[in-house]
Amino acid sequence: MVPMKSPTASGLEGVVVAHTALSHVDGERGTLVIRGYSIEDLVERGTFEDGCGLLWNGEWPSAGEREALRAALAEARQQAFTLVSSLGEALTLADGMEALRAAVGQLSAVDQPADRFRLTGAIPVFAAAWARARSGQPVVPPRSGLSHAADYLQMLTGELPEARRIAALDAYLCCVVDHGMNASTFVARVVASTGSDLVSAVVAAIGALKGPLHGGAPGPVLDMLDAIGHPAHARAWLRAELEAGRRVMGMGHRIYRVRDPRAAALERAMAVLERTEAQGERLALARAVEREAERLLTERYPERSLRANVEFYTAIVLDAIGLPRTLFAPTFAASRVVGWCAHVDEQQRAGRLIRPASTYVGPAPPAASTS
Ligand code: COA
Repeated sequence: MVPMKSPTASGLEGVVVAHTALSHVDGERGTLVIRGYSIEDLVERGTFEDGCGLLWNGEWPSAGEREALRAALAEARQQAFTLVSSLGEALTLADGMEALRAAVGQLSAVDQPADRFRLTGAIPVFAAAWARARSGQPVVPPRSGLSHAADYLQMLTGELPEARRIAALDAYLCCVVDHGMNASTFVARVVASTGSDLVSAVVAAIGALKGPLHGGAPGPVLDMLDAIGHPAHARAWLRAELEAGRRVMGMGHRIYRVRDPRAAALERAMAVLERTEAQGERLALARAVEREAERLLTERYPERSLRANVEFYTAIVLDAIGLPRTLFAPTFAASRVVGWCAHVDEQQRAGRLIRPASTYVGPAPPAASTS
């Protein structure tokens, strides 16, 4: 065995890999800043289209710019819909993220500014078409004049959605539009740093987002709430999971040592939705599970401070909006693609290949025979 010669940061924790003007996560204070605006400000005052303007153009869009972005995204959704019938097997795959990866992988790279719109328009169109096909329903085309959030819901249901469901989805899309050097964004930047194209970077990023330690967590959060069933069962259920060596989905974060600010923003976004009795019960259950999970994780890892992350309340919000849990991760991708595009642009301007080193710990070759 060759001895380790230099220290390695496990999981690259604490390693700075880029200078970015796009977003900043302060894990100690529990703040997230997107281009100089707090996430709370973006969620309360902004729309998904404002998030695109901020990240892609560097400034909060004027009313005219917002309209232009909205029209360009609507056009991109229309264009993407024309491809749906020629995507072959992609949209028949069983997993939504696999379907998205396969469908987006069929786009050809044209030029970067246009590809941002093409990709951002394509993801909700492909995700909605996949969900409709999976449930044996005909696909629904995009409708002009709608916002990105409204059209996504419209393509999923075939109906014009209620204003409050649109507002809640829009708040969610704003919440997760970018988040520092998260795993999928890093992947996109690595691909971009090789001189490859934006479509390739986004396909790779979709693959990274799919994992349960990243964007794949909210579906399992709902599964957990279903399995627990009642606040009174939370402690025993969670304790058994931890004793079996399993992780509690929606809890913990690489950066945050306090509650994820996006969890709070999403909890507030819930307020716009009409609360049915079942949703009220689910929210009460979620709060009880969060409290118990926090207590048990603090007992186990007192130095780590594992609190609820964005995925915990994502599960509750997207479920209350009426999205099936199989669409949670694809819906995350529908927003985060905006951040990936902005990071790819920034990385390409930085212009240096990302190529870290590794420490070899395998066997040395056999010594050459001296006889
Ligand atoms: N449930 C149980 N244990 C957890 C945990 C969780 N949710 N999160 C972290 N831990 C444990 C780890 O297993 C580790 O224990 P070990 O030292 O005995 O192996 C310890 O706490 C420290 O983990 P940490 O270094 O803080 O985790 P990380 O930075 O490597 O991972 C996550 C961060 C998000 C991947 C991790 O918290 C996790 O798996 N959470 C659940 C999945 C999730 O919600 N993902 C969405 C993230 S937005």
